[in-house]
Amino acid sequence: MLHTLHRVSACVIGAFVAVHLLNHLLALESVDAHIAFMEAFRNLYRIPLVEILLLACVAFQIASGIYFIKARWGQRRGFFERLQALSGGYLAYFLLAHVGAVLFARTVFNLDTNFNFAAAGIHVSPFQFYFVPYYFLAVVAIFGHVACAIHWLTRNHFSLAARNRIGYAALSIGAVLSALIVAALAGGFYEITIPAEYTATFGA
Ligand code: HEM
Repeated sequence: MLHTLHRVSACVIGAFVAVHLLNHLLALESVDAHIAFMEAFRNLYRIPLVEILLLACVAFQIASGIYFIKARWGQRRGFFERLQALSGGYLAYFLLAHVGAVLFARTVFNLDTNFNFAAAGIHVSPFQFYFVPYYFLAVVAIFGHVACAIHWLTRNHFSLAARNRIGYAALSIGAVLSALIVAALAGGFYEITIPAEYTATFGA
């Protein structure tokens, strides 16, 4: 039952994250393209009922994920079984920190949590040493976690070698997309100026 709920909740979060990451990829083109898309997408996920459902799924996913890690502690064998716990554990940490930061910035600092909010930490030294791996690993962990789910769900349909190849391919795609998203946040494609109200939250 808990596994089924974890999967259903993963589908709700997954649908949001797929569009969310596409939104971040648009920053390869320009900050304006990123912000315009986010403002349109917010018309859907900021509908109170939708946002409450999404945030409830995030809370449930963190709690059930930590439970699964503890329940099978020391019993996992092979790369993909271990990666499932590792990526899930990182996602639990990331979601708590990330969604907590977004809600805190919105309600306490009254900030528009757009591209500038996401990129600010990378543009105030020494916070880039935290935020670059923090964002990079989040996107890799999402792809890694999905890769593990595919690896498990296809166990009766494909050979182990084929399932491993699919898993490594998903992980590699995640790493490339993640590097592109983080490079865009860091200003790797064009010059970025972060407004002072965002960098001020890091003491700059
Ligand atoms: C480089 C990677 C990422 C960046 C830069 C980023 C940035 C952001 C930003 C700026 C917001 C605020 C959106 C708004 O104000 O409307 C946000 C919200 C959110 N992000 Fe991310 N995100 C990233 C990856 C992820 C991943 C991998 C997940 C899931 C595992 C995730 C889950 C969420 C959730 C659940 C929200 C809250 C939506 C809401 O109710 O406002 N993000 N993210």
